[in-house]
Amino acid sequence: MRVLGIETSCDETSAAVVAAGEPPVLLAQVLLSQAGRHERFGGVVPEIACRSHVESLTAVIERCLVSAGIGPGDLDAIAVAHRPGLIGALLVGVTTAKALAWAWNLPLIGVHHLEAHLEAAALSGVRVALPYLGVVLSGGHTDIYRVDAGKRERLGATQDDALGEAFDKVASILGLGYPGGPAVERAARAGSERNLRLPRTLLATDSLDFSFSGIKTAVLYLWRGQNGAGVGPVPGAPRREDLAAAFQNAVFDVLMEKIRRALAQSGLRRLVFGGGVTANEELRRRAAAELAGLAEEIVFPKPEFSTDNGAMIAAMGLVKLARGEISALDLEAYASG
Ligand code: KG4
Ligand code: ZN
Repeated sequence: MRVLGIETSCDETSAAVVAAGEPPVLLAQVLLSQAGRHERFGGVVPEIACRSHVESLTAVIERCLVSAGIGPGDLDAIAVAHRPGLIGALLVGVTTAKALAWAWNLPLIGVHHLEAHLEAAALSGVRVALPYLGVVLSGGHTDIYRVDAGKRERLGATQDDALGEAFDKVASILGLGYPGGPAVERAARAGSERNLRLPRTLLATDSLDFSFSGIKTAVLYLWRGQNGAGVGPVPGAPRREDLAAAFQNAVFDVLMEKIRRALAQSGLRRLVFGGGVTANEELRRRAAAELAGLAEEIVFPKPEFSTDNGAMIAAMGLVKLARGEISALDLEAYASG
């Protein structure tokens, strides 16, 4: 069984072919990042993202098949991310997938982008037995799930900024560039929290929800002065690197506490991470050091499968194909999860 996966939910245009197996085998992937087109705006501009997908998606798919050394007749299905994401961006992938499925007479499979982020762990070589606690940390979502066969129950979510979004905004405040996550991580490595004690927003004592906007605003005020009115750095502002380190420590303190709570409340003992923020090495180090006693298994995707990619969509497509979950050609795209 071979599935072509198509990913266009945000600013990566990607196609991949994955073959069934345990672990699933990546035959080829083409991934075109639009980061260079969004950089000067400090974030993803939806219209630019959609237009870029329209411009490159068919070429990306063609190159992917050529690099896998196969043709449409060697495929068993076409999987496409159809939610959640930027609606215009999703529509480009969904429409292309439908047209190809119809023209090549192949089954179409609509894939939930966040479910695919959790499937990235299996694609990386470790399939965790169900049920498990799934933690998705991306640019648009910060969710904790109980994952069981064919279903996900959301136990907690962010009330304001997603974790990746908070990294991006802090990078923009500190002038560290775009994309923000890797830039903040790099800066933090050269800094230290010192006596900068940023707030840790934990909400109610049993809450599994998140709030990152207060931590982000504390960085803004320290850098640009009270009310964030200055240009920054204001006189006496901490070093950029130290603020990055203090921010990263604060948000990961909160995350570790929420995961400890979720493991205790749910009784689950297996933990799977997914999403762009899991590319962060400090997060991986802290999870291994601080959660090892609480979970029997802690699994991260390989860094190349952390951020958005077509391979995880194809891998999730294989799971759905095996379950017989085929979509009709009137499959819709949805911005929401
Ligand atoms: O999963 P993803 O590629 O796209 C969405 O589904 O949103 O996640 C992108 C997010 C961005 O906010 C980016 O800044 C963040 O993941 N990210 C990181 C790192 N690499 C990417 N955040 C922290 N540390 C990193 N090394
Ligand atoms: Zn994503």
